[in-house]
Amino acid sequence: MSAQSNPGTPVVRPPESRAEAEALDRLDPLSTARERYSLPPGIVYLCGNSLGAMPFGAARRAREVVEREWGEDLIRSWNVHDWFGLPERVGARIARLIGAQPDEVVVADSTSINLYKAVNAALGLQPGRRVIVAETGNFPTNAYVLQGLAARQGEAPVVRAVDRAGVPGAIDTDTAVVVLTHVHYRDCAAFDLAGITARAHEAGALVVWDLSHSVGVLPLGLDAARADFAVGCTYKYLGGGPGSPAFIYAAGRHHPRLEPGLPGWWGHVAPFALREDWDPAAGIRRLLTGTPSIIALSVLDAALDEFEPVAVEALHAKGRGLVAAFMDLARRRCVQHGVGVATPDDPARRGSHVALRHAHGYEIMQALIARGVIGDFRTPDVMRFGLAPLYVRYVDVWDAVEHLVAVLDSGEWQDPRYAARSRVT
Ligand SMILES: Cc1ncc(COP(=O)(O)O)c(C=O)c1O
Repeated sequence: MSAQSNPGTPVVRPPESRAEAEALDRLDPLSTARERYSLPPGIVYLCGNSLGAMPFGAARRAREVVEREWGEDLIRSWNVHDWFGLPERVGARIARLIGAQPDEVVVADSTSINLYKAVNAALGLQPGRRVIVAETGNFPTNAYVLQGLAARQGEAPVVRAVDRAGVPGAIDTDTAVVVLTHVHYRDCAAFDLAGITARAHEAGALVVWDLSHSVGVLPLGLDAARADFAVGCTYKYLGGGPGSPAFIYAAGRHHPRLEPGLPGWWGHVAPFALREDWDPAAGIRRLLTGTPSIIALSVLDAALDEFEPVAVEALHAKGRGLVAAFMDLARRRCVQHGVGVATPDDPARRGSHVALRHAHGYEIMQALIARGVIGDFRTPDVMRFGLAPLYVRYVDVWDAVEHLVAVLDSGEWQDPRYAARSRVT
């Protein structure tokens, strides 16, 4: 093994034995973070791209906010514990992870709702243009939100959905907004965020990025790329917990003219003045709608403590090493069983999960889960293995592939109980 290292890239060569994987873990500068997550013994948890593992601090904070802040301090907590400012405070912490200013991000609602608000706001800045350019095969909620916008009365936008390769060519001077997911939920391919943003701006278009599979694993540099809008989930790599509220980013230069299209009293300049007419708050806060979930926001806030001492580049370097190791092992040991590697080869064009394809991917994944290796499945044939840099080890990658090979060699996935489909896959 020759684990070369340079700043931010500690690993370039994948392990060839379990001992080499252990050696890579000993070199890992992030190795101590794992102790602060609840990861039951005997489980290899590779689903941080879907539902991040629970940091112990999140459980402590949940108890504190429920028992003390809500239980004892009651409604006074809106002021005493500044619950009112929590959407912005948590937003400011996420801002560092996406390369934004602290006052350009706010946290509330779901990614779907924030996407609606961001696209509406972007359209509002583009009078005379109606075309939305999007990618076919994107995560379905993104398509549904755009279809909903296109179905509205009057000057409804028109959605031009094209395949990934066709996106740059589809952007022209009719384009109002380009709406894309940076890292694809299925194959993990990443767009060139800065390049597409520049291409859109050249044509006079704005861009809304969905960063659900990017935040917490990739350097994003939104402000440096002069991005316009972004949204993203916090329950994946950030570990905010099931259904934790999503973030929304709007570049500061757009704030004075922003209309969310879903105004509510929490985005008002003076919610407790209880005025009849909509008068938006001055900055990013105008993208809030209704009362945010304080318990969920507090838990997310605690989960972000784990990211506080870590440079985004270090997360990226570790994730890149894990993905390279997983892909290399899968290529060497699984392709002969009909497994295809869908994640792109170019490390600059991918996120932090590995997507393997197999016609019986669902059954194979159930057999793996029965062995304690937890990934997930996306129809029609994709097995996903999320490699969260704060708590996945090289040895987990090694063990997961060992189990995968055993499942394929033995054919144990053919047991009929693995074919029964659950509601959530
Ligand atoms: C790209 C993308 N956007 C959005 C979502 C989900 O959004 P919401 O928070 O509305 O459930 C997901 C969920 O996996 C996703 O992968």
